[in-house]
Amino acid sequence: MNATRRERHRFETLITRDDIQCRVAELARDLNARYAERELTIVGVMSGCVVFLADLIRLLSMPLRIEFVSASSYRGETTSPGKLALASCDHLDVENRDVLLLDDIFDTGKTLQSILQQIQARHPRSLRTVVLLWKSARNETALRPDAFGFEIPNRFVVGYGLDYDGWYRNRPDIGVLSNPPEPPAVT
Ligand code: IMP
Ligand code: MG
Repeated sequence: MNATRRERHRFETLITRDDIQCRVAELARDLNARYAERELTIVGVMSGCVVFLADLIRLLSMPLRIEFVSASSYRGETTSPGKLALASCDHLDVENRDVLLLDDIFDTGKTLQSILQQIQARHPRSLRTVVLLWKSARNETALRPDAFGFEIPNRFVVGYGLDYDGWYRNRPDIGVLSNPPEPPAVT
């Protein structure tokens, strides 16, 4: 990204850093209650999960393991979902384990659906999903996240792990970019 493009992007905050931290703490409280005395395996979807995962796990008190899978449905500078590129889940040690699949955002739902199917085939003891953001209007699957931080409108968001062409993941808050890009249309 060159300086000209950066200047064209105006960032409007949608969810503040404080609101994110409060909500993550609430999600952690729920998870601590649900999985009390159990061993949890968290499977994070790279790369968008990293900030949410790092904040959440430090508030969890059960014994837990972390594994990662790679997925990417956005390519280059476009904000429309491209072909889903999903690495295999063969390396995951999930059989007979309580598994929590964690991602930054549930958009069309196709990423989580594909990973869920692969994990399910490996016979976990239980399998649930948690995402920080849920664009409910965009769902193209029969799924819904078991837990989510915030339901958001159909806008393309960045910050707190979410990127636009690899940028903005380090912002502590979540917001929309304008001038362009514009969010993808609901189809
Ligand atoms: P889905 O398969 O359409 O649910 O897309 C999920 C993936 O697309 C997420 O893991 C994100 O990496 C990416 N994504 C979806 N919406 C946004 C957005 O608004 N900003 C940044 N990335 C997004
Ligand atoms: Mg992602």
